[in-house]
Amino acid sequence: MSGKRDGFVGVFDSGVGGISVLRALVSELPHEDFRFFGDSANAPYGEKDEPQVLELSRGIVERFLAQGAKAIVIACNTATSVAAATLRAAHPDVVIVGIEPALKPAARAFPHGRILVMATEVTLRLDKYHELARAWGGECEVIPVPCPGLAARIERGGLDEPDLARMIEGFVGAHAARVDACVLGCTHYPFVRAQIERALGPGVRFFDGGAGTARQLRARLAAGGLLAERGRAGRVEFASSLDTPDELALYRRFFELPL
Ligand code: DGL
Repeated sequence: MSGKRDGFVGVFDSGVGGISVLRALVSELPHEDFRFFGDSANAPYGEKDEPQVLELSRGIVERFLAQGAKAIVIACNTATSVAAATLRAAHPDVVIVGIEPALKPAARAFPHGRILVMATEVTLRLDKYHELARAWGGECEVIPVPCPGLAARIERGGLDEPDLARMIEGFVGAHAARVDACVLGCTHYPFVRAQIERALGPGVRFFDGGAGTARQLRARLAAGGLLAERGRAGRVEFASSLDTPDELALYRRFFELPL
């Protein structure tokens, strides 16, 4: 018998960043079907007004629901901060899982440590981040590092090019050898973790929200009786608002990139 548990999980971000979360989702839930939508035509979200991010997010969620999604993952810290509460209120019966900077596990690992939180300007400006820092920052020194332009640069690919290394150096170089942990609070940044590691020097532990989001999705699907049959292999499909063969090839490359 087919039912709601046969539906797919819709996953979205402003662009390629959400693919870092998609990878964690597929690894945690290999039997599920995932449809990824990257809004690359409208990236970056992190430098837009909040009403614009809300409208873009709402449009994507409504399209996914019209297509029969059984759950939604907002694989974007910025869109989660701006839109998750409103979207959950508008669709109270739908499982909507968001992502937030992984400050909680970082602060648990380094209770008196110095912790960088790299994220978009919007994420670091909104109340959600300040509440997170108040709730979990404890005795840590939490240093927010807004990174304007970084997500947009990652969208263009060419991750080994020197201009990108210079840009990252500009954001975090002053903290080299002076931090215990670095929270990658934008889903684009795990793709340049090695470059950030080079700029910060050895011995820094990295945290991102992908695995926590995947565990949260598993728990919510299980609670709703929505987990797919274990015997089946899940499918992963990609779509983009920049719907060109080159863009979709870039998405597949990011899905397979060794991290
Ligand atoms: N990847 C997104 C995030 O996690 C936003 C990047 C952007 O579009 O600015 O915040």
